[in-house]
Amino acid sequence: MTIDTNTKRPIPAGFEHAHATPHSYAAMYAESISDPEGFWGREGKRLDWIKPYSKVKNTNFEFGEVSIKWFEDGVLNACVNCVDRHLPTRGSQTAIIFEPDNPDSPARHITYAELSEKVNRMANVLLSQGVVEGDRVVLYLPMIPEAAYAMLACARIGAIHSIVFAGFSSDALANRINDSEAKVLITADTAPRGGRVTALKSNADAALLNCSEKTRCLVVKHTGDQTTWVQGRDVDLLAQMEQASPDCPPRAMNAEDPLFILYTSGSTGRPKGVVHSIGGYLAFAAMTHEYTFDYHDGDVFWCTADVGWVTGHSYIVYGPLANGATTLMFEGVPTFPDAGRFWQVCEKHKVNQFYTAPTAIRALMAQEDEFVTRHDLSSLRVLGTVGEPINPEAWAWYNDVVGNGKCPIVDTWWQTETGGHLLTPLPGATETKPGSATVPFFGIKPVILEPESGKLLEDNPAEGVLCFADSWPGQMRTIWGDHQRFMETYFQQYPGYYFTGDGALRDEDGYYWITGRVDDVINVSGHRMGTSEVESALVAHAQVAEAAVVGYPHEIKGQGIYAYVTLMHDVEPSDGLRKDLETWVRTQIGPIARPDVIQWAPGLPKTRSGKIMRRILRKIAENDCKSLGDITTLADPEVVDDLIANRMNRG
Ligand code: WT7
Repeated sequence: MTIDTNTKRPIPAGFEHAHATPHSYAAMYAESISDPEGFWGREGKRLDWIKPYSKVKNTNFEFGEVSIKWFEDGVLNACVNCVDRHLPTRGSQTAIIFEPDNPDSPARHITYAELSEKVNRMANVLLSQGVVEGDRVVLYLPMIPEAAYAMLACARIGAIHSIVFAGFSSDALANRINDSEAKVLITADTAPRGGRVTALKSNADAALLNCSEKTRCLVVKHTGDQTTWVQGRDVDLLAQMEQASPDCPPRAMNAEDPLFILYTSGSTGRPKGVVHSIGGYLAFAAMTHEYTFDYHDGDVFWCTADVGWVTGHSYIVYGPLANGATTLMFEGVPTFPDAGRFWQVCEKHKVNQFYTAPTAIRALMAQEDEFVTRHDLSSLRVLGTVGEPINPEAWAWYNDVVGNGKCPIVDTWWQTETGGHLLTPLPGATETKPGSATVPFFGIKPVILEPESGKLLEDNPAEGVLCFADSWPGQMRTIWGDHQRFMETYFQQYPGYYFTGDGALRDEDGYYWITGRVDDVINVSGHRMGTSEVESALVAHAQVAEAAVVGYPHEIKGQGIYAYVTLMHDVEPSDGLRKDLETWVRTQIGPIARPDVIQWAPGLPKTRSGKIMRRILRKIAENDCKSLGDITTLADPEVVDDLIANRMNRG
């Protein structure tokens, strides 16, 4: 069955009173573009300000002078906006539903009043450890409520949190602690996930061997599993919280002070510390959460991402809590104890908006529909997807089987750098097309440029690189400690524009279709990775001389990791060595970076100047060897024959 991707799907019934309708979207979008000051000046008021801003927008995309400021003279506190201000009206409402990994363990309902108490206590523990405004605190935690408490506790005292996904290795953790010069690491004993256990504390111990000895380690005793304990360095966080006062005055912060750093991969070099600031980020996260998911008071919202990614920051914690929502935090995985878990949890907690990634949808779609249909999913109103282009088959299954044809699908395009959704349908306003992220959010000015010349392509259809012509409040402000790299990465190649690194097509209806990254970044199960990071890990192995890594199409993961490895001259390839290299990459970066395929390459295709021609390697990895293009500029064209003959992915 081929799926018609070009005919717009009408808005399902029941969205007549949505926050945005076709008419209101058009009017509001037009205003947001013609009068950004007026528009965002009003939207900024969805937050509570200690001192209101008088300036709304002060942004400059010009290379060399890039500067992004929103609400710059406003004073506020993010934690107050996510917690305190809700207490008078919804102190006894559930803020966080915690659903543990083990389906037989009871779920926990944490009210706003309880959230406030926990966050205040944790903030006081941080203060007692010497953490002050502007200090960095690294979080390496499972998907447990304490992760949200820790984020908000940092925000309360003006500290900057930096979450490292619990799937990263100790080396990756150490790099991030060192790059951000964190004073404190917050971790947990162990993390159960999908019935397996990750030894977070022992990873943290290994990481801290490579960090300043002044770094303190606050440990959440979550499972009670035994861990080593370093006297004088390790602190039992929950025990300290019980001793601490439940009252910690919030710090008055400037709108442009950093709220958090989040490391993400780029095409070159080490991961970049993306910096988001308090005022603009929070206003944008709250607004997009409300509009994109058509969130209404009393709804139960579930985003299945991990808090270690930006999706978890914006749509588990900051957006929903700023809106006084009930947000669900799930510790487990979609397939444990079986492929019905997501739907069982939706039924159990009467979830209204559900937000996940195409890779999870594809994995579940491969199972019997019965895993879905045996549950009562009538509470679901809106279904969201994020992380990579969703293939039309997965879109159709999500729409028909999960949503029963009644839930609009919001395919949200955005990035760690953008803080929130930039291209997305709105449930009551936008007709959808399977696989398209559709139209811009309010205030967003997408453009398509010709990749080589940078020429603005104004007619439809257009295909090229996706850039943005103006700023929005949730935009990243800088790369931690390296503003020059920030400007070079995003503003140099196409002067006057923010360059996303994605290619896109705009069709006759003005709908946007993401065609994938145009740089050396790959997207594996929605996790973003620089191929150069995996290459660096491989060449750090004593028996590896050289490595080149590319992405290739993978049925479930979207892209898989394909590594070409040249061994040292005296080393023989073997299956044992292949296993060694896989383990090696896991320990260097983390399980998400483990190559799916390793091909032994006696040589790599290089130009005479020594540059590896990845274009050719990508084609071979895709098993598309007929259209390799011009290989005459290669120093040694024969290596290509060997690579083709020994290719590992034969379709
Ligand atoms: C890259 C950003 C932002 C949350 C998760 C990923 C790809 C993201 C979509 C989508 C097509 C998408 C892009 C983007 N991407 N959402 N709806 N359709 N592609 O954040 O790790 O910063 O990755 O993910 O390539 O550049 P991230």
